[in-house]
Amino acid sequence: MNAWNKILKPVIGLSPMDGVTDAPYRFITAKYGCPDLHMTEFTNVEGLSRGAVTMLDAFLYDETERPVIAQVYGSEVESFYKVAMMVCELGFDGIDINMG
Ligand SMILES: Cc1cc2nc3c(=O)[nH]c(=O)nc-3n(C[C@H](O)[C@H](O)[C@H](O)COP(=O)(O)O)c2cc1C
Repeated sequence: MNAWNKILKPVIGLSPMDGVTDAPYRFITAKYGCPDLHMTEFTNVEGLSRGAVTMLDAFLYDETERPVIAQVYGSEVESFYKVAMMVCELGFDGIDINMG
């Protein structure tokens, strides 16, 4: 089931913000702000697919953040594919591709 279909409209979610919406920030926001969904900071697919394990810190989340969406960016199709699999395995409710 698509995560967006489970949320009442209008959606009031936590926007992805690089350098801001890290795991502790999202944990606190879930506890005190209760947005309809949470997004991670944007994270580079090439780095992740090449094994930069410290980048996985961006994908730490708590169950209270659900639905929680992983935001990614990059340029290589193969890296997007690998990271999409990774995001599924990590149990995210969705993946958002930052096209900027
Ligand atoms: C510090 C900062 C970091 C941001 N990082 C991202 C990001 O990683 N990915 C993204 O899609 N948008 C990013 N944005 C844009 C926000 O998600 C949001 O779309 C934007 O701030 C517009 O919302 P506002 O009018 O409520 O500020 C960032 C914004 C700020 C202020």
